[in-house]
Amino acid sequence: MASGKIPQTFIDELISRVDIVEVIDSRVPLKKTGRNYMTCCPFHNEKTPSFSVSPEKQFYYCFGCGVHGTAISFLIEYEHLQFPEAVEELARGLGLTVPREGESGGSSKARRDLYGWLEKAACYYQQVLAENSRGKIARTYLEQRGLNAEVITRFRIGYAPPGWDNLLCALGGEVARNPLMEAGMLIQQEGTNRVYDRFRNRILFPIEDRRGRILGFGGRTLGDDTPKYLNSPETPLFQKRYELYGLYQATECGRFPERLLIVEGYLDVVALAQAGISYSVATLGTATTVEHLNRLFRVTPHLVFCFDGDRAGRAAAWRALEASLPELHDQRDVRFLLLPEGEDPDTLVRAEGREVFSTRLRQATPIIQYLLEVIRAQVDTEGTDRQARVVELVRPFMAKMSPGIYHTLLIRELAEFTRIAPDKLSRLVQSRAVPPDDVPSPTEKRTTRPSPVRTALGLLLVRPDLARLIDDPARYAEYEVPGAKLLAEVLTLLKSQPNLKTSAILEHWRGTDMGRHLARLAQWTPLVPEEGMATELKDALKRLEQQALEQETTHLVDKARISSLTDAEKARLHSLLAQKHARTTTRLAGATTR
Ligand code: GTP
Ligand code: MN
Repeated sequence: MASGKIPQTFIDELISRVDIVEVIDSRVPLKKTGRNYMTCCPFHNEKTPSFSVSPEKQFYYCFGCGVHGTAISFLIEYEHLQFPEAVEELARGLGLTVPREGESGGSSKARRDLYGWLEKAACYYQQVLAENSRGKIARTYLEQRGLNAEVITRFRIGYAPPGWDNLLCALGGEVARNPLMEAGMLIQQEGTNRVYDRFRNRILFPIEDRRGRILGFGGRTLGDDTPKYLNSPETPLFQKRYELYGLYQATECGRFPERLLIVEGYLDVVALAQAGISYSVATLGTATTVEHLNRLFRVTPHLVFCFDGDRAGRAAAWRALEASLPELHDQRDVRFLLLPEGEDPDTLVRAEGREVFSTRLRQATPIIQYLLEVIRAQVDTEGTDRQARVVELVRPFMAKMSPGIYHTLLIRELAEFTRIAPDKLSRLVQSRAVPPDDVPSPTEKRTTRPSPVRTALGLLLVRPDLARLIDDPARYAEYEVPGAKLLAEVLTLLKSQPNLKTSAILEHWRGTDMGRHLARLAQWTPLVPEEGMATELKDALKRLEQQALEQETTHLVDKARISSLTDAEKARLHSLLAQKHARTTTRLAGATTR
């Protein structure tokens, strides 16, 4: 039951019908000021409103913290939803059903049904745990592990009794077979048609999504048999690289914990919650992925990775660091806490209590410091050699980071260590320059004129209808100018769908670098009066064309210097130079007659 993508045409329709003002206003009351609506930003703390919603662009933007996006983005950020969930939510409000590519509508119902079956399974396991005789052994185990009834209920911990077909029978036998199979709860015996329960004689930890729907289970043995933990397999609902155990409890009732603690085990999460640290989550026996980070950063910018101090724990921390580096933005804060060997959060918080453990958390090592610590520990040579080696090892990590505070910080720390001046060092290690066409934040003053591509894109995002004035947009894709390809794509899209709003355009590039680029441009308000915009756009495109011709000329001239040109290239260069000459003379002529 591979669930297909949501068709872009549906997103277009949804965005054209939905009103972002309504969507936001029903959650965060807005006040009309001029053409826009304002309120205090729900994503950062402030006393005077800097969060603005534009009904024309169907776009929101905060002048304080820079968050921005469409109605879909708002729900993703504000309600911590995944993209499909946000789309579902908006569609529900409009009474629409979300179609999926390559489906005839049956599958999303099947999906809903699977949630239902897993919910029934969880209830069954909870009930067995509570049963006088069958549940006794499991209750004793949990008691030994120090868990109280409240936390057992909160995390819906259950018990799968021994036996091969308890679940299947309890849930109705034959009718339950296919859905339970699909939900990963049964195993088919090889070479036969027979199935049996996946989880037998294990403590079960239901794995929930952000809304508390059950996706699968983790099961711990009561004794010493292997594997110690058995997880649900990957199913249409459950994919380990996305899910985090405990995230539902940590964010229950719309709570935004100030920070999230990422630990290794189910029992760590539960024990911490019982001790009053209710903001921890665990990956499901996998390394931290980018998908995990995206989910976590949606809740809070402050993450603390908390692992064992042993070899495996250090390896896990390192992988978390590698995954985090590219995701570091200025507001974000990622730290590492390695526990004394042989301890995990479960044992530690039990032994020393919440207060002492919280102190450890506050003293966790910031990511940059941790990176340098680990790298320095790897280099065993002495003297200047050592410094060169450290710089060499840091370089690839620096290349993964975006420019910003953390980048600067790392340079500064390295400079101190190597006693090389920061700007010299920065030239030494810089393998990634700021993108040439980067958009500054609106609070920054720009001294230079925006490039033609940016001007054109910016104008189109304010007035998508202007695209109809432009012929043959595909030609811009040929230009070797940064962003020209994107411009061509936007123009082509708008020519085929002239009624798209700004937000609908952005949704076409969701999750891509181009999309981020466009979203930043959408924050820009051109300093041109409404009636001048058409001229401004045409002018920008003319400048773009010239820029492309100049570049081609330079390229051919350079090539002619180092090797020879083909006949076609020679002819092209001739014509380019002639055109350039003509332009210059016209300009000069214009200047003299004026
Ligand atoms: P407890 O005895 O339950 O406290 O485990 P622990 O503290 O020794 O945890 P451990 O470090 O062994 O495991 C941490 C996490 O790794 C678990 O919560 C599981 O998610 C995962 N894990 C551990 N052992 C296994 C295993 O045998 N199979 C799988 N798939 N995952 C495991
Ligand atoms: Mn443990």
